[in-house]
Amino acid sequence: MNILVINGPNLNMLGIREPDIYGSETYDDLVKYIQEAKGSHDLDFFQSNHEGALVDRIQQAYYEGVQGIVINPGAYTHTSIALLDAVRAVSIPTVEVHLSDVSEREPYRQLSYIREAAIATVMGEGFAGYVHAIDLLEAFTGEN
Ligand code: DQA
Repeated sequence: MNILVINGPNLNMLGIREPDIYGSETYDDLVKYIQEAKGSHDLDFFQSNHEGALVDRIQQAYYEGVQGIVINPGAYTHTSIALLDAVRAVSIPTVEVHLSDVSEREPYRQLSYIREAAIATVMGEGFAGYVHAIDLLEAFTGEN
């Protein structure tokens, strides 16, 4: 299965940013972790701090024939209708992932725009949540 893993703003700062919430491992460690768990898949990774770049990458996925998207939109989860529209536009099955359990955090993290277009949301499972998200994409699409 051909899967695109997208991480939004500040996820390049993993290992440095708020380690009590996000852990001490880095973004590169995250990519390695997913590759080791799901190496048999055709995996592509993208991280950006810029909303428009994330929209562009989702649109590009349509033309590449990507079969599933795993996205942690970071803080854009709570603000971006543009990312919601992009996921709707491409009609690629998408799972929303958060390292932390946002349902237990601040009130301003309780709204997720992208959730409306996602087939599922995984939160509070740390790095394992991304692998769980890929499992959910496999089950949803019947691909492996
Ligand atoms: C996050 C949760 C968001 O609220 C936050 O803005 C992030 C990371 C998570 O992975 O837990 O940047 O998406």
